[in-house]
Amino acid sequence: MATIEFPPGQVALVTGAAGGIGTATVRRFAEAGVNVALLDVHDGVATTAEQFTGEFPGLTFRSYVTDVTDEGQVAQLASDVRTDFGRLDHLSVVAGVLQDASPVEDLDFAEWNRVLDVNLNGPFLLAKAFIPLLRADGGGTITNVASFWGRSGRALFSAYCTSKAALFVLTQSLAAELAPDIRVNAVAPGNINTAMHQRALHREAEERGVSFEEIKDKEWGAIPLKVAGEPSTIADALVFLSSPASSYITGASLDVNGGVLFH
Ligand SMILES: NC(=O)c1ccc[n+]([C@@H]2O[C@H](COP(=O)([O-])OP(=O)(O)OC[C@H]3O[C@@H](n4cnc5c(N)ncnc54)[C@H](O)[C@@H]3O)[C@@H](O)[C@H]2O)c1
Repeated sequence: MATIEFPPGQVALVTGAAGGIGTATVRRFAEAGVNVALLDVHDGVATTAEQFTGEFPGLTFRSYVTDVTDEGQVAQLASDVRTDFGRLDHLSVVAGVLQDASPVEDLDFAEWNRVLDVNLNGPFLLAKAFIPLLRADGGGTITNVASFWGRSGRALFSAYCTSKAALFVLTQSLAAELAPDIRVNAVAPGNINTAMHQRALHREAEERGVSFEEIKDKEWGAIPLKVAGEPSTIADALVFLSSPASSYITGASLDVNGGVLFH
């Protein structure tokens, strides 16, 4: 297999860059010599960008506080990235939210919409806004972070599962539309040990009236590799799918889940 190398001077935009998987993805791009635009709705992303600037002085990192559900903010971001970097080669869509654990009959419509807005409308708005810039320098890649919970439905998490299932199909539609200039793929993480995963375990334990440890043992015990993944495992997949090493892959979704789906 080709090694993971990028042509010099490339730029990646990573959304959710203040979060667990987002920060790990910025790091992997930086290690591969790629400049990074870091986006998050959380203003802590500025500190994250500063830390990377200190660690990788030869590369450029800029942070943008943007809500991916706001069409105006996303359009402004596309304009800012064009001004600041002059190009974009890779869009890694990592930002996402978990829903409040709830059966459908008790689920507020507002909560349903919030989850669909971030996890599905966000990737749509980002792709729409950045396609022209990705095309401008001869093409690039878009990689969406879905979830193993989008591979099938799951009690208490209908909005989240639906949003991630739809993201697989949006990924394929984009791949079909944008070939051969832009390759579009998805990564479907399993249980990845970030703040989001810890929140999911807490919420499920609360909703089912059992202890955190009990839910954690049940979830992790069902993983053939017997442990939640590190955020870097998803970052590795994102960077691979962005790199020339995956040049014949588009419209695909890559499961990175410790084998949990075949169990
Ligand atoms: N952790 C897991 O077990 C797991 C499993 C499957 C899929 N995923 C997916 O991986 C992605 C990253 O998850 P994580 O575990 O790093 O979570 P995280 O909560 O650590 O990070 C998510 C980031 O997205 C940002 N964000 C949320 N709403 C936003 C918005 N409207 N605009 C811009 N940024 C916004 C948050 O501020 C946060 O920094 C998500 O899409 C999630 O659904 C995670």
